[in-house]
Amino acid sequence: MSVAKKPEDTCVLVTGGAGFIGSHTVVELLENGYHAVIVDDLSNSSAKAVDRVKTIVGEKAAANLTFYEADVNDRAALERVFSENTIDRVIHFAGFKAVGESVGKPIEYYTNNLGNTLTLVDVMREHGCKSIIFSSSSTVYGDPDSLPLTEESPKKPATNPYGWTKWMIEQVLTDLHTADPEWDVVLLRYFNPIGAHESGLIGEDPKGIPNNLVPYVAQVAIGKREFVRVYGDDYPTPDGTGVRDYIHVMDLASGHVAALAWMNGRSGVEIFNLGTGRGTSVLEVIKAFSKACGRELPYKVEPRRAGDIAENYGNCDKAAREMGWHARYDIDDMCRDSWNWQQKNPDGYATA
Ligand SMILES: NC(=O)c1ccc[n+]([C@@H]2O[C@H](COP(=O)([O-])OP(=O)(O)OC[C@H]3O[C@@H](n4cnc5c(N)ncnc54)[C@H](O)[C@@H]3O)[C@@H](O)[C@H]2O)c1
Repeated sequence: MSVAKKPEDTCVLVTGGAGFIGSHTVVELLENGYHAVIVDDLSNSSAKAVDRVKTIVGEKAAANLTFYEADVNDRAALERVFSENTIDRVIHFAGFKAVGESVGKPIEYYTNNLGNTLTLVDVMREHGCKSIIFSSSSTVYGDPDSLPLTEESPKKPATNPYGWTKWMIEQVLTDLHTADPEWDVVLLRYFNPIGAHESGLIGEDPKGIPNNLVPYVAQVAIGKREFVRVYGDDYPTPDGTGVRDYIHVMDLASGHVAALAWMNGRSGVEIFNLGTGRGTSVLEVIKAFSKACGRELPYKVEPRRAGDIAENYGNCDKAAREMGWHARYDIDDMCRDSWNWQQKNPDGYATA
């Protein structure tokens, strides 16, 4: 069982803490009094994100943040982190996340995502830290039989290596608890995180052509891309375009803080969906973003993309019931904050 501690006495290791969701979560952690240690190899992020987290939280809270530029697969580096800090809990974000890329690079995805998790939990065990929150995804539900998705909805075979890594890591962490019931595991299944911190100092910084809809729409809005590609308008949805459950990244961040408070003093394996419980279509996103940036954004309908499903959205009542958490922001808020970040950082963290 994890030892119940106050936030100010709790040190949380955040792997991948310089990334999109990680950086926003670290802000929430520090603002709620936690100590945080980031381990990130910057393979998909920038040290500037860490500096900006410090700016957002201010000098006093920033003093509770330590950053290691290191690969979670690097056992020696991880050993050092655990020796130099008394880590109470871990939030594990570090991993590769591009679905399409994972199809061509299965070895890289399994090595990084699965491999780093195995190294991490082994080092945690060695240091007596048995408390972990894992970034899972609604992708484990596959193409759903019925909506909304609840935590009891069946897991379906994944359609790409990225999805399998989420699927398998959930299993690894569940098996870990079976073998040693002292482990305290929370699997958070995220829906589609978008938006940015309201300051516009941190946000999503995709490399190359964005895979996800909202970063792509944001680049159309800023004039980097000509039009939005809408993949399919003949799905069995109200307007024919794909429907997803978008969640503001700050809501997701507060979900992690809620999970930390909830797991305090417990042990077990628990799954929570983190979404808004509402589906929004591609055309509705384009409309909301157009409103945010003040001009009609052009789009073109193209054929469906292989592997895309028509619709998914979650039922997040369990997180509300158990952890007292619920999403506060709607799609207009999410697009406003994404646009604010995009405008202030047209080239992401590469902007001077
Ligand atoms: N963004 C989404 O749509 C989404 C949805 C569901 C789940 N997730 C999961 O949430 C987590 C965070 O996602 P994100 O959107 O913030 O992605 P991100 O790429 O912005 O963040 C991941 C961070 O991990 C770091 N990293 C990768 N491999 C590492 C390693 N071996 N050692 C140390 N650092 C490493 C990267 O540099 C990056 O900063 C990922 O596990 C992702 O699969 C994301």
